[in-house]
Amino acid sequence: MSGFRTALRVAAAALIPIATAAMALLPATPAHADSPLREHAEARGKFIGAALATGPLASESAYRDIAGGEFNQITAENAMKWTDTEPSPNQFTWAGADAIVDFATQNDQQVHGHTLVWHNQTPDWVQSLGADAMRAAMQNHIAKVVGRYASNPTVVSWDVVNEVFDDNGTMRTSFWYQKLGESYIADAFRAARAADPDARLCINDYNVEGVNAKSTAMYNLVRSLRAADVPVDCVGFQGHLAIQYGFPGQVQENLQRFADLGVQVRFTEIDIRMQTPRDATKDALQATYYTNVVKACLAVPQCAGITLWGFTDRYSWVPDTFSGQGAALIYDENYAAKPAYTAVHDALAGGTGTPDTQAPTTPGTPAVSQITSTGARLTWTASTDDRAVSGYDVYRGTTKLGSSTTNSITLTGLAAQTAYTVHVVARDAAGNTSTPSATTTFTTTSTPPTGCTSTYRTVSSWQGGFQGEVTVTCTGAVTSWRTTLTYPAGVGVTQSWSSTVSGAGTAFTFVNAAWNGSVPAGGSTTFGFIGTWNGTGAPPTPVLS
Ligand code: G3I
Repeated sequence: MSGFRTALRVAAAALIPIATAAMALLPATPAHADSPLREHAEARGKFIGAALATGPLASESAYRDIAGGEFNQITAENAMKWTDTEPSPNQFTWAGADAIVDFATQNDQQVHGHTLVWHNQTPDWVQSLGADAMRAAMQNHIAKVVGRYASNPTVVSWDVVNEVFDDNGTMRTSFWYQKLGESYIADAFRAARAADPDARLCINDYNVEGVNAKSTAMYNLVRSLRAADVPVDCVGFQGHLAIQYGFPGQVQENLQRFADLGVQVRFTEIDIRMQTPRDATKDALQATYYTNVVKACLAVPQCAGITLWGFTDRYSWVPDTFSGQGAALIYDENYAAKPAYTAVHDALAGGTGTPDTQAPTTPGTPAVSQITSTGARLTWTASTDDRAVSGYDVYRGTTKLGSSTTNSITLTGLAAQTAYTVHVVARDAAGNTSTPSATTTFTTTSTPPTGCTSTYRTVSSWQGGFQGEVTVTCTGAVTSWRTTLTYPAGVGVTQSWSSTVSGAGTAFTFVNAAWNGSVPAGGSTTFGFIGTWNGTGAPPTPVLS
């Protein structure tokens, strides 16, 4: 492995071994509580970055002031992509890329290069080449773009390949893959290493933040590339999250398993969107998610830092892509800091910021309604907090049954004819929790006769896992359904959709989600899940009941 650049200010983004870096970077005194994000990040040996757009960088001083003052690493949101740098064969245009690098130099920042090989924002002329010419064009592009900044200490790392997987963990059948097969990935890394032996080289993707089929596929690819001496130094987890879809599971564990392969890890494109308009409850939950991201990175020594995909809601790709969603960043459209800014700041400050030690007040006793065989609705009097209540957790004893950002919840996945004694706990963005509410007891009804039958198919499988799909067909109309899949030992279920899964060992029971319990007479509905399988060959077919 080549030597990385040394003498750079930010340890983790700088390309020096972690242990050395951590010692070199700890400042004599901690950053002041009011210090900008970058000072707190530097005190923790991490980078805090933002993707920047060249338009406002040139035209708005408020944008420049925050971009330069708060962040110690920047990424070009678009200006280093192929369409911008090589619009015609071997004709390079550097205005945007150079503007980013110049700004970073002026503001004592590092640049992470994004991105060399991607299926988006690549000109048509590349996509229409034959295989040999396409491989040569890719190698030339990498040589020229990486080579331009190879001797510039500001540019420290590159996303070499971006988004090579589909969400189910199979290779994306991009034009790169169709023409060149998987070999384009190793070739791209080797070309980048040849162009700049000191730059840190990353593979980058989205929906890989938690442990799931796609991140496991990424894990297996990185492991096999490194086993073949392909110079993959770093894995980027984009982190385009949404408060309405929940925070991904096992993020810290996921970062750590990649780090254990010997690669550096980092969050590369964090934004956390919501259904607009904003309100205090959504802002508080978003702030919690930002806290979670920063804390996950701080907890993993090999996590180099966190880049936000923009910093102001004034400029974000989100509303253009997700209708009715936005407000994903840490400053609003008028450059006012949001609760998300405070969350990032306080998490980076790690106790040197103004601590939030006051817990929310105790929630009211939950009232129960809409009891079915699998669920019930709970409503309680809301808590208050000196800053904001970020959510509520509903427990049966010590088992969490569900979470809500409002003072009500519809519980699903409950067992039929079972007594549940439940209570509610409120929490704030800093993790302070209220005393538990008084308990309420209710008993679910018996399972309705459904007259439904299920069929199963394996959608796809890979080493260690598979995606399954079940179709539930009902002879009479039903308002709820359930299906149990019984497997031989060695099969697990890590997530499901259009259903709620419970069970362990060999039997997994799936019940309808709140929105798809009703099936008309003769109708059917489908749900899916991701399974793990520790054997070889095709995953086993379950017995359905
Ligand atoms: O520059 C042209 C402009 O001349 C034209 O008038 C205008 C009309 O639509 O389009 C402009 O180009 C847009 C470009 O952003 C610059 O603003 C493209 O249409 C638009 O598609 C492009 O979107 C970018 C997107 O990548 C493309 O896939 C977003 O800004 C950028 O935030 C987004 O970033 C990606 C990362 O690179 C990879 N990971 C996901 C992330 C979010 O999609």
